[in-house]
Amino acid sequence: MCNVWSGSALLQDEPLVARICQAVVDAVEVPVTLKIRTGWDRQNRNALTIARIAEDAGIAALAVHGRTRADKYEGEAEYETIAAVKASVHIPVFANGDVATPQQASHVLAATGADALMIGRGAQGRPWIFREIAHYLATGELLPEPTPDQVATILLGHLEQLYAFYGEQAGVRIARKHLGWYAKDRPENTVFQQVANRAESAQEQLRLVRDYFEALAAGERMAA
Ligand SMILES: Cc1cc2nc3c(=O)[nH]c(=O)nc-3n(C[C@H](O)[C@H](O)[C@H](O)COP(=O)(O)O)c2cc1C
Repeated sequence: MCNVWSGSALLQDEPLVARICQAVVDAVEVPVTLKIRTGWDRQNRNALTIARIAEDAGIAALAVHGRTRADKYEGEAEYETIAAVKASVHIPVFANGDVATPQQASHVLAATGADALMIGRGAQGRPWIFREIAHYLATGELLPEPTPDQVATILLGHLEQLYAFYGEQAGVRIARKHLGWYAKDRPENTVFQQVANRAESAQEQLRLVRDYFEALAAGERMAA
């Protein structure tokens, strides 16, 4: 990013951000959204300036990750800057950074006044997080964790969609990182992940996933 002067490195060159936003907005018919960090480093938190530049250029909505570029992924995201951005523009603002539970989602929405949340790592291997958050925001109650059967159904559907979207060869490869993310919460899944990583075809990958969850369900029946 920074070597080729793109992405978060651009925060250092505000006139260039304005030109790029304007050029993209002028070039396309669809709404253009922008995602930024809070600044280049903690001494140069210019998210407010960039947000106004974006709004003036016709950007339709803005997502803000509550870290500077220099923060990388270290420390905790801060939400004060996102709140300040939200208060200073009229376009919708999405708060982003470290939202991994329904309670955090509720806290970040309240702390920032943002119109929506953007969730990255919290959704990796847990795509049901959106349902959990929506339910909690609507009712104040936490949904139970999905059962292994439900996880299997979601995962198999996810794999099918990866093959359909990327084609089998790339889909199988890309699916490996998702299998790792689905497996990350349960230590016993590591072995499964290693086996699944060896699968070279969609058929084999699906079979290994089905076998694994069937064995898991059989183990639970035996334990019960
Ligand atoms: C695997 C991965 C890939 C990412 N790719 C991009 C990207 O291409 N563009 C971008 O703006 N942010 C990217 N991000 C950053 C996320 O969009 C997000 O800002 C960051 O992970 C903080 O949100 P989170 O705490 O919900 O993960 C990526 C993050 C991860 C973990």
